[in-house]
Amino acid sequence: MRTIFAHRGVSSLAPENTLSAIKLCTDYQVRWFECDIDILQDDTIILSHDSTLDRCTNRSGSLFELNRQDLDQIDAGSWFSDEYRGERIPTLSQLIVLMNQYQLNANIEIKSGDVSAEACRRLLAGLDRALNQLDDGREYIISSFNPTLLAEFKRLRPQAPVACLFENHTLNDDWHVIMEWVGAEYIHPQNEGLTHQQVQLFKSKGYQVNVWTVNAKDRANQLFNWGVDGIFTDFPQNFSSQYREE
Ligand code: G3P
Ligand code: MG
Repeated sequence: MRTIFAHRGVSSLAPENTLSAIKLCTDYQVRWFECDIDILQDDTIILSHDSTLDRCTNRSGSLFELNRQDLDQIDAGSWFSDEYRGERIPTLSQLIVLMNQYQLNANIEIKSGDVSAEACRRLLAGLDRALNQLDDGREYIISSFNPTLLAEFKRLRPQAPVACLFENHTLNDDWHVIMEWVGAEYIHPQNEGLTHQQVQLFKSKGYQVNVWTVNAKDRANQLFNWGVDGIFTDFPQNFSSQYREE
């Protein structure tokens, strides 16, 4: 099975981590997307890659000083193009509704690098509650660069499929120890510098392998020929239906 994950939604055609970018998956018969989540001051869980508003909205400053009602005043679309002016930062609850409505599956990446341990615990509990709202048949993977968060989430929700994210320079000899400690079923390594030998090793240990972020078709073909299970790409619209999971 070769899975194409729309990275932050179809982020080459619409503003990343918005409902519009995720809904665009349906135009290209892409059933899986990736998004990043974080938590606001009032415990609302929202979609955002960054911990500040600076790059992807018309505002600046930290996310963590915001509450749910502040989201109605923030434009998360016009930085990308006029067409998306007025787009909102979505909540996780809104995302779950969209997934059920359009029968989409998600890789949800937990960020939360900049919040307290207590806020992280509330984020994990909120994520667990949100996943209970998914319809039967909807699939998800929970990923993070932070193994401690993943291990805690696995304790909270043992049935959750979990993925350890690795940057190339953190993929040291102890990767397997981390995977076992977390109880992860998936390894998500960085594309840059990833070798055939590494992929063979991951597969020989029985892990599913999804690689981020792969935008060139030749590289995607190479990775799939090496036995990789999926890729995260900003350009899912460029991948023909032969790759897409039905
Ligand atoms: O989940 C894959 C990828 O999104 C990880 O890196 O920085 O794009 O969240 P980043
Ligand atoms: Mg991500």
